[in-house]
Amino acid sequence: MSRPAPAGFTWWQAGVIYQIYPRSYADTDGDGVGDLPGITGRLDHLQRLGVDAIWLSPIYPSPMLDFGYDVTDHTGIDPLFGDLARFDTLIAEAHQRGLRVLMDFIPNHTSDRHPWFTAARSGRHDPYRDWYLWADPAADGGPPNNWRSVFGGPAWTLDGESGQYFYHAYLPQQPDLNWRNRAVRAAQLDIMRTWLDRGVDGFRIDAFRHLLKDDQLRDNPPKPQWRVGMAPYDALLPEHTADHPDIGDLVALIRAVIDNHPAPRGAAAPGDRVLIGELYLPIERLMRYYGPAGAGLHLPSNMHLIDTPWQAERVGALIDAYEAALPAGAWPNWVSGNHDRSRIATRVGPAQARVAAMLLLTLRGTPTLYYGEEIGMHDVPIPSELVQDPYERRVAGVGLGRDPERTPMQWTADPGAGFCAPHSRPWLPLAEDAAVVNVATQNGQEDSMVTLYQRLLALRRAVPALSVGSYSPLQAAGDVLAYVREHQSQRIVVALNLSDRPRTVALSGISRGRILLSTDPHRPTRQLAGTVILGPDQGVIIDEAMTS
Ligand code: GLC
Repeated sequence: MSRPAPAGFTWWQAGVIYQIYPRSYADTDGDGVGDLPGITGRLDHLQRLGVDAIWLSPIYPSPMLDFGYDVTDHTGIDPLFGDLARFDTLIAEAHQRGLRVLMDFIPNHTSDRHPWFTAARSGRHDPYRDWYLWADPAADGGPPNNWRSVFGGPAWTLDGESGQYFYHAYLPQQPDLNWRNRAVRAAQLDIMRTWLDRGVDGFRIDAFRHLLKDDQLRDNPPKPQWRVGMAPYDALLPEHTADHPDIGDLVALIRAVIDNHPAPRGAAAPGDRVLIGELYLPIERLMRYYGPAGAGLHLPSNMHLIDTPWQAERVGALIDAYEAALPAGAWPNWVSGNHDRSRIATRVGPAQARVAAMLLLTLRGTPTLYYGEEIGMHDVPIPSELVQDPYERRVAGVGLGRDPERTPMQWTADPGAGFCAPHSRPWLPLAEDAAVVNVATQNGQEDSMVTLYQRLLALRRAVPALSVGSYSPLQAAGDVLAYVREHQSQRIVVALNLSDRPRTVALSGISRGRILLSTDPHRPTRQLAGTVILGPDQGVIIDEAMTS
């Protein structure tokens, strides 16, 4: 059972999702890589934190060239992480605590070692050939067109045997599937059913915007704004390789499985499951993934907070644009960070990370937290000899590597940070401040980040205006972002100071309110008639209806 949501709302609308990168969460078998028993053993932390669902980055059998996003068997568990029995235990233990479990579903590509691709590569007439995307060389023998891999270099690799190129949006070892082939669709939908039978409550769909590409293989146009030093992939506009107009048909197919496949006991019922799509797209393009009459994805990921400059005007404008673009009935969502992007505490600094936490957990819509944010983990610089990320290796020097945001979770002040045994070597180095920044040290500390997150999440649960209430802007200027969340008779004001200097916020009626939570427990917020004085880096949540 999930925790009850306010009447008229689902658990995933009122709830908060927490992303776990399993390699980096908790290692129980001494190999320096996190595993499923490690996650199961830390569910109490998540319950105490107050999140509603966990999304697991991939745990399927894989050569791990892209750390699990290169799958060889979609229905198994890589021995590095455990096995199906341990997975079942994780699901059962999570469900018992009221936590939902979401899987990472990777439909766009497989590993080149997947039996489907091995067969497809074996000859032009193999029945699996058409499961992937093949094309003859251009007249000069080079790749069929100018399409580029997200990870740098051409998106086509020549298969010497057959003399044809195959397409890969990411690594050459991650060939893209052909979603125009009906057998591919059927196989992928069956994979979803397999996991639903095992009790998962929904999926995060990987690389969703890449699912269909132009069948005429037209060249992508250049992007005029591109400059040397930017990601090589961004030199072209992905007009013919991403966000294809027909993707909606595929969304409908996937959604039908989610809505109709029966659920085992303890799992979210059909109609109560959630479908999240990884979509790096402009706001207006994102909206069509909700589908006609809401029949598409429940939560097309809104990544825009990640790239928006941390200024009140800019963040306020983003929220307004996003709110205005949402079609009727579409539920918003917000993401502050993930395993592909620099951590929030690094992007805005440690003091503002507290303000950002308050923003993320008080905006209208489902928030997704990334593991470690709750203790203020920052990006960890990785010396070049320890680099693991294939992206970093392919685009060295551009600073796009993803290892810094994937370092081991910091649980305790011990050597190994409670992530692994003291004598084990973690797969990525621990942060140098792990002895101070960790769950055990922060738990129960009045001014720690984890305490702030626990309080924010508890308040969000206790106050429906914060989880499901309407949103209206109050101020997005002079370093202050302020807004109102309202539900039934409840009216909550959130006022955030995005600067390190005191700021006065003129808010009529606030003098009647009561401060429910401040990012800074030591700094009392002075209330004057109609104004609130915020300290440096301070955010407050005010209940207007209550008297102080
Ligand atoms: C998604 C994942 C990323 C992965 C890529 C290829 O963007 O989040 O980590 O490398 O897809 O699967």
